Amino acid sequence: MTTITFKDETSGKVVQMPVLEPTYGHRVVDIGKLAKEFGYFTYDPGFMSTASCQSAITYLDGDKGELLYRGYPIEQLAEKCNFLEVCYLLLYGELPDAEKKQVFETSITRHNRIRENLRRFFHGFNYDAHPMAMMTAVVSSLSAFFHDRLNVLKDDEDRMVTARRLIAKMPTIAAACYKHSIGDPSIYPRDDLSYTGNLLYMMFSLPGKRYEVNPVAERALDVLFTLHADHEQNASTSTVRLAGSSGTNPYAAVAAGIACLWGPAHGGANEAVIRMLDEIGDLSKVESFIAKVKDKNSGVRLMGFGHRVYKNFDPRARIIKDICHQVLESFGHDPRLDLAMRLEEIALSDPYFIERKLYPNVDFYSGIIYSALKIPVEMFTVMFAIARAAGWISHWIEMITEKDQKIGRPRQLYIGNSRRTVPVLSERQ
Ligand code: ACO
Repeated sequence: MTTITFKDETSGKVVQMPVLEPTYGHRVVDIGKLAKEFGYFTYDPGFMSTASCQSAITYLDGDKGELLYRGYPIEQLAEKCNFLEVCYLLLYGELPDAEKKQVFETSITRHNRIRENLRRFFHGFNYDAHPMAMMTAVVSSLSAFFHDRLNVLKDDEDRMVTARRLIAKMPTIAAACYKHSIGDPSIYPRDDLSYTGNLLYMMFSLPGKRYEVNPVAERALDVLFTLHADHEQNASTSTVRLAGSSGTNPYAAVAAGIACLWGPAHGGANEAVIRMLDEIGDLSKVESFIAKVKDKNSGVRLMGFGHRVYKNFDPRARIIKDICHQVLESFGHDPRLDLAMRLEEIALSDPYFIERKLYPNVDFYSGIIYSALKIPVEMFTVMFAIARAAGWISHWIEMITEKDQKIGRPRQLYIGNSRRTVPVLSERQ
């Protein structure tokens, strides 16, 4: 085993720390001995150089612009598989054969309904509640309905049924959030439709009216979901792992992930991109907007650009750009695509963005696709959450079944006051 030597100059003490070899990517120093033998913690805000866990689910190489689920490149999965096959792959580690695929899809269909008393939860939300606020609360409440199958720390099948339930119910909950926000009654899922076909049906059909699922929209959503299904130890997945490490129920852990995803630096970026494009409004204003982005005092960022890990290109953004063109060919042109392409063109040749390795990320074009499908901006992050639920629950299973699994408990560098005596009230200033 390779080791790395750490020498404490103050005490002269030396220790060998093991270097862990990955299948791909950076080697990782096991720093366990630092605290035990020297009494040091490490300091790494934002986890810029810290591997928080071992994982066999997803690998991404930011310099190469490569993303693999269980070893398979995202481009091939998007082309050759549907989203539910990808869910199966993330959960079980292998692609399903024809029989397993059918059993899995049937199981997802069987679990796609939500209980009537859960449906009534929606009446408690104000009509203008943000769908992500509803989604967070409703997913968390699933544990109140399925506590009979929550022996998840010990029972494999309880874990897997929870995973299938979650994946199955996400579109139903998402569509109910949307219907509530427009004051329409929620629609029950249909067993003859695909995963994304059902979502479109539950969002856009009206009681008593015929609804045909558009195959271009159905396929575009399916590919978008595949691209968003997992992304290794991102903020929301790490949140799910940390919340779940206490042994809390998986619905609560996933609800914590949904809350994290909502932030504009994470899944909320697709919503922010559309708002940004609407604010720019016209091709003539693109250059002045870019100038504003480059002015550090403005506090304005080019939303949908930049990524903590991808420093070359985001492979998902390329696929999404192609789908965006296909969708707009079918649904009609959106001038926001012209604005996005012009922003991309300028940014990719501007030293500010080149030097900082800022490229379009997965969210730069996804919002335009959602808009073309008549999905309102408030629902964009909800769409992301439906897809990412597959990744969250796969990581939660990996974490909870790890040998010697421990509660996640980071340490800190305390920089507060060193007062030691509490003054009585009359002595306080
Ligand atoms: N527009 C303008 N400048 C940017 C942008 C941007 N979108 N992103 C980063 N920068 C600049 C920073 O100002 C900084 O410049 P400096 O070195 O002169 O101070 C430099 O690039 C590095 O930026 P950091 O914020 O340190 O990079 P970090 O890796 O922490 O942030 C992040 C990544 C949060 C994604 C960032 O690029 C960002 O805010 N992008 C816009 C929001 C976005 O699109 N988020 C979606 C991410 S993908 C996803 O979650 C699905």
